[in-house]
Amino acid sequence: MNICVVGTGYVGLVAGTCLSDFGMHVICVDKDKSKIDMLNNGEVPIYEMGLKELIARNVKLERLSFTTDLKTTIDRSLCIFIGVGTPENEDGTANLQYIFDVCDEIADSMNDYKVIVIKSTVPVGTAKTLRERIKARLKKDIHFDIVSNPEFLREGSAVNDFLRPDRVVIGSNSDKALAIVRDIYRPLYLLETPIVSTSNETAELIKYASNTMLALKISFINEMANLCDKVGGDVYQVATAMGMDKRIGSKFLHPGPGYGGSCFPKDVSALAKVSESYGYDFKISKAILEVNALQKENVVKKSEAMLGTLKGKTICLLGLAFKPNTDDVREAPALYAAKRMMEEGATINAYDPIAMEEAKKDIEGINYFNDAYSACTNADLVIIMTEWNEFRDLHFDRLKEEMRELNVYDTRNIYNAKSIRESGFNYICTGRPVE
Ligand SMILES: NC(=O)c1ccc[n+]([C@@H]2O[C@H](COP(=O)([O-])OP(=O)(O)OC[C@H]3O[C@@H](n4cnc5c(N)ncnc54)[C@H](O)[C@@H]3O)[C@@H](O)[C@H]2O)c1
Repeated sequence: MNICVVGTGYVGLVAGTCLSDFGMHVICVDKDKSKIDMLNNGEVPIYEMGLKELIARNVKLERLSFTTDLKTTIDRSLCIFIGVGTPENEDGTANLQYIFDVCDEIADSMNDYKVIVIKSTVPVGTAKTLRERIKARLKKDIHFDIVSNPEFLREGSAVNDFLRPDRVVIGSNSDKALAIVRDIYRPLYLLETPIVSTSNETAELIKYASNTMLALKISFINEMANLCDKVGGDVYQVATAMGMDKRIGSKFLHPGPGYGGSCFPKDVSALAKVSESYGYDFKISKAILEVNALQKENVVKKSEAMLGTLKGKTICLLGLAFKPNTDDVREAPALYAAKRMMEEGATINAYDPIAMEEAKKDIEGINYFNDAYSACTNADLVIIMTEWNEFRDLHFDRLKEEMRELNVYDTRNIYNAKSIRESGFNYICTGRPVE
């Protein structure tokens, strides 16, 4: 079976590559010629562990190829997976224009039955809208089905997540299309991965419900950490004991500088907006957005309190990616902190093992360095923004030689307060006592 995957970002490229590794013939399409040229030259436009090797293997076996030519690829494929972006509009709704563009092209090029699989995260009701849009545009009476197949992979472990998911959700009103897509995922079914079959609407809701619940857990523990800061509690112990309750679970109870990335911010906002459009006020999603915005600003406030003023100070940010093992800086708390601190008159030095090139596209005025120690030169404060492994064992004696003032703000709680204070540093973190 030939499969077409439209969009070669984190979702499309990983999904297309892994499906080809299942033994299927996959053609990945992107309108961005530079990405396709890179892929055809053996380069990978994003950083994801294990992806480069997997692409090389399947290209060599002639099961995976890359093109900008969607029209020809549609003709050759039974299933068309759509994994293009659905960014946030200014009003907080999901921007579906990229999906509409792809569906219009499919409608214009389709000559026989197709299964159109929506992998992008889209608000409830989108499959129905797309069905009507394609039908209205078709010049001939051709049958097609729409399947909603939201993706749950995490950047940083995307290949592993795709190959070993907790579940696969497949939603459609067509039994034939459900059977075709279930067959594509058969290698996972053989590994006893639960396959959840639903309607399109339910599948669309499952994705937003899952992301909003994860964002809620992070926001809850962030608020708990803020309260710990005020009353002298230890959020680490609170989270550990909470997590021992199986009804709660221990995952996603790590406080920090607020969540970022390309998914949680826009998806929580889109859930609030789509609920509003159906006449429902989804209060929790709005509260999460507010708490997260305050948490990002909290980093600026705590830094200012530590230094007295940010004006004229040099601050070193260690980590720019929104989490470790990715080069993605979309909505990253580190970039928010950098922008705000520069507005307050601070100079920002930064180092990230992978994400500096992406950050350069997003923000101007940061001084970039090739390692953590040189980034700390003459700094009045070093802030650990992303818990990359290489920041877990910094040599504080060396930092002492480089820094102007000895202040460390560990937003991710990766260090032991006592030992850092004993080396002569002022140290603050998130919701844990430092004395
Ligand atoms: N990134 C994640 O971790 C993740 C996880 C689960 C779900 N999602 C969802 O998956 C979708 C894609 O996310 P992403 O992070 O992979 O996006 P991305 O921005 O990394 O990639 C999207 C790609 O689509 C391409 N594209 C846009 N319009 C096109 C068109 N008309 N024809 C061909 N290509 C086109 C772009 O050039 C780009 O390469 C989003 O809806 C996102 O919410 C993302």
